[in-house]
Amino acid sequence: MDKRPIGVFDSGLGGLTAVRQLRKVLPGEDIIYFGDTGRVPYGPRGEDTIIQYAGQDIRFLLSQNVKFVLAACGTVSSTYPPALAAKLPVPYTGVVGATARAAAAATRNGKVGVIGTAATVRSGSYAEVLREIMPGVEIFAKACPMFVPLVENGYVADGDPVAALIIQEYLTPLRDAGVDTLILGCTHYPLLKPMIGRFMGENVTLVDSGKVTAQATAAALADLGLLNGRDSGGTAHYFVSDDPTQFTEVETMFLGEYAGGPVSRIAIEDY
Ligand code: DGL
Repeated sequence: MDKRPIGVFDSGLGGLTAVRQLRKVLPGEDIIYFGDTGRVPYGPRGEDTIIQYAGQDIRFLLSQNVKFVLAACGTVSSTYPPALAAKLPVPYTGVVGATARAAAAATRNGKVGVIGTAATVRSGSYAEVLREIMPGVEIFAKACPMFVPLVENGYVADGDPVAALIIQEYLTPLRDAGVDTLILGCTHYPLLKPMIGRFMGENVTLVDSGKVTAQATAAALADLGLLNGRDSGGTAHYFVSDDPTQFTEVETMFLGEYAGGPVSRIAIEDY
């Protein structure tokens, strides 16, 4: 049993999709979330910068005495080196492994689509895990760099014409390729799920990295004996690197029924 909070971070607010699921599956756990709202997006940046930023994000969470670090960010998960993660004083997980395994279990025709940021798609991270599990899998990957700004700016209402146009632009090749499973490889994308689902068609399974990883994190904490033993009353404390007003304006969109909780600004460059 471990009473310390779970640490979760993302380049911005997308990781809140994982927090929402974590709060659902582990209602007694305390969560510390850091969203690097001052430096989002990470996706178009180079590897060195992403690793440097992720290192600071992790050091901040460790300063809050977390018992586990969840990188709720497809970009960091695809870029942060496993060798560095292995040296951390607490267990660490990203979103790629559990999400790729869920997609492998879901596909019937062996054609899997992967969408994510430029860095995620460039890394080939999801493809690597998928190929290990299913050597014959056909993978159709597409970077969707305009999805993150769409989501961070709230263009997510079902039927939004701007979102619809960009979805059509990015996803037409995947739909034409006949994928039956689509990995939403970035934790911002679940906000666009209804529109993506309608565009891809009802026979395509969408695998939500935030949701799958929250479930995998709950299982990992149980295996490691790190749950706090409570089944209700968990809290969430949010930290951001830019004006917290932006967070409070959009938190309901990401957290739904779990919105609320203190939000503080920190200087992430100091970590
Ligand atoms: N939520 C991040 C991810 O999963 C966002 C992307 C970004 O910062 O570009 O990749």
